[in-house]
Amino acid sequence: MTGTDITYAAALIQQGKLVAIPTETVYGLAANALNTDAVLKIFETKNRPKFNPLIVHIDRVESLDKYVEYIHPELRMLAEHFWPGPLTILCRKKENLHDIVTAGSAFVAIRIPNHPFTLELLQKTGLPLAAPSANPFGYISPTEAQHVEIQLKEKVDYILDGGTCSIGLESTIIQMQNNNEIEILRQGAITPEDLQLLTDKKIIVADTQDKIQAPGMTKSHYAPSKKLIIGNIDNLLLSDIGQKIGVLSFQKRFISDKIIHQEILSKSGDLREAAKNLFSAMHRLDAGAADIILTEPFPNEGIGAAMNDKITRAAHR
Ligand code: TXA
Ligand code: MG
Repeated sequence: MTGTDITYAAALIQQGKLVAIPTETVYGLAANALNTDAVLKIFETKNRPKFNPLIVHIDRVESLDKYVEYIHPELRMLAEHFWPGPLTILCRKKENLHDIVTAGSAFVAIRIPNHPFTLELLQKTGLPLAAPSANPFGYISPTEAQHVEIQLKEKVDYILDGGTCSIGLESTIIQMQNNNEIEILRQGAITPEDLQLLTDKKIIVADTQDKIQAPGMTKSHYAPSKKLIIGNIDNLLLSDIGQKIGVLSFQKRFISDKIIHQEILSKSGDLREAAKNLFSAMHRLDAGAADIILTEPFPNEGIGAAMNDKITRAAHR
């Protein structure tokens, strides 16, 4: 069932049920992070490997100390600045968070999401919520309640409909390294430049293309079921690539008899608008009549870097 009843959603969470929750990034598939049976249901529902840990969502900065043994002061400063918001921080966990949540790691990934419904839900339950993105493992992430309905309908107890996600890409994940550099494990709406404005520490972006640093940073991810190819769309259209082509374009309209479905992410060339539309456009292309999807690299600046990371993984087979 889909609706906007936060009280009902809170009751379900307290009973160990699964609720899909809206956030500013993507929809999450949430359960009480302190209830191991409920957390196990998340893995089953998503068909997610158990070695892939979950992000824990909390309601306020003060709640950190309930679940976190230690957080580096510099990371706390960043959290206080960006929360509620799309920044996830790895911290040494307390015993009360079960190993199943962190896949055996001593570190938990934690954030305060920025959506009024989910903040109210967190406050009503008084519980931390473990929530991965609410999609089957490896598939395109959901940015609307309807995406969750289509993908996981029978398997979730309730979908809390908070509208379209305002950012549309997963949170930026950071950790403090032993050498005191801040490492970005997953690129997202908060860019290295945004972080560097606030800290003197060196910021590096993990090269997760070749090496899987965080479990789950798998090469193939966010993928439509159709083949997706990244390149120069004009050239690809001239090649012998098929007759029913779908195009996922940043700004420009492409012209060809072979194009039967085209999604333009931002006519004005605004990367944030494009990021917000990216996953919905991929959902529509995957559901539509095209046999194959062509896309092009985005300008590799700001949130464009995170978008390029997503399409690269979506194209990987
Ligand atoms: O924006 C988001 O972060 C969304 C919303 C729902 O909050 N959540 C999300 O969760 O993207 P998920 O499970 O789809 O991605 C979480 C990523 C995974 O790649 C996982 O490997 C990594 O975070 N992660 C989680 N806990 C970790 C840990 N303890 N150590 C290292 N990586 C971790
Ligand atoms: Mg995910």
